[in-house]
Amino acid sequence: MKTIGFDKPLYILPFDHRGSFETKMFGWHGDLNAAQTAEIAAAKQVIYDAFKAAIAAGVPKEKAGILVDEQFGGAILGDARANGYAAACPAEKSGQAEFDFEYGADFARHIEAVQPTFCKVLVRYNPDGDAAVNKRQTARLKQLSDYLHSKSQSRFMFELLVPAEKAQLDRLNGDKKKYDIELRPKLMVQTIQQLQDAGVEPDVWKVEGLDRRDDCEKIVAAARRGGRDKVGCIILGRGEDDNKVREWLTTAAQVQGFIGFAVGRTVFWNPLVDYRAKKITREGALAEIARRYEEFVGIFEKTRPFRQGKSSTIKLAPSILAADVARLGEKVTEAERSGADRIHVDVMDGHFVPNISFGAVVVEALRPITRLPLEVHLMITDPDAFFDEFAAAGADSFLVHWEGNSNLHRTIQRAKELKKRVGVVINPATPATVLEEVLQDIDLVLVMTVNPGFGHQHFIETTLPKIRRVREMIERIKPDCELELDGGIDATTAPLGVAAGANVLVAGTSIFGDVKGVAAGMERLRTAIKQAA
Ligand code: DX5
Ligand code: ZN
Repeated sequence: MKTIGFDKPLYILPFDHRGSFETKMFGWHGDLNAAQTAEIAAAKQVIYDAFKAAIAAGVPKEKAGILVDEQFGGAILGDARANGYAAACPAEKSGQAEFDFEYGADFARHIEAVQPTFCKVLVRYNPDGDAAVNKRQTARLKQLSDYLHSKSQSRFMFELLVPAEKAQLDRLNGDKKKYDIELRPKLMVQTIQQLQDAGVEPDVWKVEGLDRRDDCEKIVAAARRGGRDKVGCIILGRGEDDNKVREWLTTAAQVQGFIGFAVGRTVFWNPLVDYRAKKITREGALAEIARRYEEFVGIFEKTRPFRQGKSSTIKLAPSILAADVARLGEKVTEAERSGADRIHVDVMDGHFVPNISFGAVVVEALRPITRLPLEVHLMITDPDAFFDEFAAAGADSFLVHWEGNSNLHRTIQRAKELKKRVGVVINPATPATVLEEVLQDIDLVLVMTVNPGFGHQHFIETTLPKIRRVREMIERIKPDCELELDGGIDATTAPLGVAAGANVLVAGTSIFGDVKGVAAGMERLRTAIKQAA
């Protein structure tokens, strides 16, 4: 089975509406003739063209996607595939209270004919609803889940609506808002758990908006429980007005695990209605749809950098430069036992920086001592010349400086050929912009928060705006890339760096120099980060 989950940013423009398009937008009932079908397809093409316009205007292509049906959007699905856009395609019969496959037993053939990035199902499920209906739905959903995970490249997107049962609403005196705020979040968690327990394993849960941040956190916790830690959640719009959707997205965007949204009607409905009524031109409708979609993307893009700094995800990389060299092995073991995430080895040659430190022999000696990754920070004039030696010694990643390297691209490629992780380091005086062209190729950016060469120096606070800029660039170009800081990190400066967007911290003095020991030093850092979060 593939790993379950999808945790990259995902901003979907959904327009797979079928029943509601026919009846509500067009006012048609019963079977459609060819001209009517073509008219709906043309309306969907306006939305798709707006999606493309939004990408041309700067919405990151790799985070964007559409959701459209085969019936009216067959051509669009083909075009999206040709253009490399993420595309989701529904598998459910439209306009039905109980989930069933649109194409019955033939569902797999349709999925493989389209090969969407995501196979989406819309399901109405209330844990207190009709048990027989829930059971039938669950059986069909498990069949789809098993199929997708074992036989298909398409991932499983589960759109969950939890409509109120009459008895539930009665208890709240018919107050639907109260239901949404007080009851629905709990029912959503229960539903997610029940379905998972029954073997229904979506990669992405597409859920109704939540008014409270802690409810968003509970949904993520349910979606990710039991080792499902890559599963993503996105917010759907339910056709609510702009303000409500804006609120929902802003709340969800702050919670790690909410990777994006799928908002359709709030984006395209009014512009399309106006266009059909000839109040605006096709171009006008297109521009307005693009504008609304871009606005919602903006909410996530703006908020994401700040939630990167969630304390639990911050990694610590103790730098052995500050450790007692006579007891290096012991110190590294202590760091590992205290929960270090990797060991940072500063390599200095007396040329690139005015100091000499460790060589490959130290990495070789540490290799059997620890299972942690050893990252070598190469403060040397010709890093390429030493790659083989450090690789043979057991280094896991190479951190190379931008400064003084006129062939950085080649250096990065060489590290990759050796199958090592690679990071680019920039000194305090070097601007973030130099990273622009290399970012897509690297695993990590290391921002020096002191001038390299010595431990135990003061954190340079003027690097903070640059750290924020690097974070923004990473979000735009390569969200998986790590952002590490090095120099002067202690309980005071660590929270500043994390708030600016760092997710890995190197620390020498504050860990190995702590009078109470390595464990106490690490604990002090972790507490400071947690309190600031
Ligand atoms: C500086 C080194 C750092 C240094 C950090 O040139 O790259 O890794 O060891 O040490 P502290 O935490 O003491 O500043
Ligand atoms: Zn370093």
